[in-house]
Amino acid sequence: MEGFVVRPARPEDKEAVLAFCEHTWDEFGDYIADVWDEWLADVTGAFLVGELHGKPVAIGKVTALGPGEIWLEGLRVAPEVRKSGVANAYMAGQRQYLARLRPRVLRLATGVHNAAVHHIMDRSNFRRVATPLCFRGRADESIVAPAPQTLGPEEGPAVMALLERSEVFAAGHRLCAVGWRWPALTPARLAEHLRAGEVVGYRRADRSLAAVALTPDAHDFLAERGRLWVGLLDGAQDSVADLVRALRRKATATPDREVLAFVPKGSPWPEILEAAGYVNDKALNFAIFERVIRGRN
Ligand SMILES: CC(C)(COP(=O)(O)OP(=O)(O)OC[C@H]1O[C@@H](n2cnc3c(N)ncnc32)[C@H](O)[C@@H]1OP(=O)(O)O)[C@@H](O)C(=O)NCCC(=O)NCCS
Repeated sequence: MEGFVVRPARPEDKEAVLAFCEHTWDEFGDYIADVWDEWLADVTGAFLVGELHGKPVAIGKVTALGPGEIWLEGLRVAPEVRKSGVANAYMAGQRQYLARLRPRVLRLATGVHNAAVHHIMDRSNFRRVATPLCFRGRADESIVAPAPQTLGPEEGPAVMALLERSEVFAAGHRLCAVGWRWPALTPARLAEHLRAGEVVGYRRADRSLAAVALTPDAHDFLAERGRLWVGLLDGAQDSVADLVRALRRKATATPDREVLAFVPKGSPWPEILEAAGYVNDKALNFAIFERVIRGRN
């Protein structure tokens, strides 16, 4: 595209970028203003601006979640220049910055109905690997359910074994929602969540695990401390049903008095969550796309 270049974002781009991001989504505007400083300071990934004839008209963020595990987010094109090839040109320009990170896998989450991004992903050789649905549960102290236990680091192998056997974990492509990003849940990451006291569940009398929920603090992006965030849910159906009710009770201690749970489409959890009083927030149902880069590293 003539006159179009992709380059690292600069502090002086802020005003122009925030102006074209102001009304990205009807319901809640956009979050770019909240992450601007953090993204600009990120030296492990790349925060890129696409400029057309010297004027910023596009942005996107490349984030390294781990070595070679790259998360793409924040793609925006100014409304007045959409549908003229800017996103395509941006994606092409972004490639050189991506290559420097030696990616093994690229992933991105977008709205389940975001036709433009689904089309761009198809054309860029990404495939859809998971469909996390968002359920909101209001805090309720009158709920009677067994109190979940906080699992410790010593439970890592048992939690991982439960997940390895789980069709739900496979349906979610072994990813876990952590503050609007979906990193792969590796044993090392699970260990971190366990150490942080972010994994709760039920043990049976024989101490085997009946249900687990990963409730990350999501400290690194758009801090979600206001709500009880459930990035992963698994176990026996009756125990999961108890656990999600107990989590609504636990959420009485959060400022927003709410549980926000992401569960894979096609799993038994949507029905169980609805029976426990949760409501699907259709505006926050996502599609995760992935591209595996072969022959690198
Ligand atoms: C999604 C978005 C970045 C696309 O930017 P754009 O500059 O309009 O896209 P382009 O003109 O480069 O089009 C890219 C391709 O998508 C197609 N496309 C663009 N808008 C589309 C739409 N609304 N529906 C279906 N396809 C669409 C184009 O036809 C083009 O297809 P082609 O490659 O086969 O020719 C832009 O609409 C936007 O900023 N939307 C709001 C924020 C958003 O949704 N961001 C993504 C969050 S993950």
